[in-house]
Amino acid sequence: MQFPKKLQQKILQRVAQYSLRELGEENSLVDFSSNDYLGFAKSDVIFNNTQQLLVDNNIKVNGATGSRLLSGNHKLYTTVEKQIAKVHHAETALIFNSGYDANIGFFASIPQRGDVILYDELIHASIRDGIQLSNAKSFKFQHNNIKDLEEKILRFVEFDSSEVYVVTEAVFSMDGDSPDLVEMTKVIKKYANVHFIVDEAHALGVFNYGLIQELQLEEAVFARIITFGKALGCHGAAVLGSKQLQQYLINFSRSFIYTTGLPPHAIATIKSAYDELAISNSKKQLRQNIQHFIAESNRLQLNFIKSTSAIHCCIISGNEHVKNMALQLQQRGFDVKPILSPTIPKGEERLRFCLHTYNSKKEITHVLENLATFVQKI
Ligand SMILES: Cc1ncc(COP(=O)(O)O)c(C=O)c1O
Repeated sequence: MQFPKKLQQKILQRVAQYSLRELGEENSLVDFSSNDYLGFAKSDVIFNNTQQLLVDNNIKVNGATGSRLLSGNHKLYTTVEKQIAKVHHAETALIFNSGYDANIGFFASIPQRGDVILYDELIHASIRDGIQLSNAKSFKFQHNNIKDLEEKILRFVEFDSSEVYVVTEAVFSMDGDSPDLVEMTKVIKKYANVHFIVDEAHALGVFNYGLIQELQLEEAVFARIITFGKALGCHGAAVLGSKQLQQYLINFSRSFIYTTGLPPHAIATIKSAYDELAISNSKKQLRQNIQHFIAESNRLQLNFIKSTSAIHCCIISGNEHVKNMALQLQQRGFDVKPILSPTIPKGEERLRFCLHTYNSKKEITHVLENLATFVQKI
């Protein structure tokens, strides 16, 4: 049977633009690309504590057996959601199967027809996809630009019947930078019908329990999206917010309702990861590595997007160019990934370095010195 021509053409176009995506193999290179910032995905302590928790609770099942609304709401869900809500100073936490599911489920169901969504122009694909499923109108504001955001808010707040939802990320996944959340909340708080949503995917664990909490802004946000597949090293996500929000999502969020729940061992792992986060030294270790990376990139006069998170990006324009540079670093033993257009806008292609507790200072210096040599040759 012939593969549809239109689809084949799209693939050929990707090849021509050096942007064809392919699945890589696991490798033994120095990890500068995974989201396992705290090393929790490989933690024996978390793995063993999870096993013990399952044994202690006599949980001997392999799967959830159904949607959480039918047979899949295992008793561990209640315990873990309570624990998460407590540590995050939120009224409730509602676990979704992934951050992608949480974002599409949230944005498809919360903003209603006649409402408005204002989103940062660099917002994550999962939020964009949720917005596309929504009946609300949506407009982007310039990246981290509070003045532009307020101008856009002013265009819509006068319509009494519409709610305005503003969404941003605490740490941008493809840039590593953060908005000024204090200033942003000050602006948003001026208007009664403007609601603030923050995706904390890359902030949780890197900045303790996320930036909203670090800045004591919990009361100023309508919802926080946290994900467990990044610094927590496991899987799943949660929406933090009020009891009413939780009740609404359970009733109307289709990516929550029409899917099998996470298996109990996934929920047990989330619990063990939170227990470890509370006592682990790794947050401090990660901070030291981030500081070392910033100091070394300054010493070598490398041009990185300003960031204090675990994500650091160096713009190398052009897919072919950035792919080639990543390949050279990989050949020297460093797993650094290129981020290509169309994932990010054309001309802003970049090398993305993710930092971890288990990267040594020597490895950080070494990879940056290699990069500096390659950049000089351009
Ligand atoms: C900002 C942001 N939100 C949400 C997600 C989706 O999270 P998950 O990997 O749990 O589906 C990601 C992951 O790439 C992300 O970077």
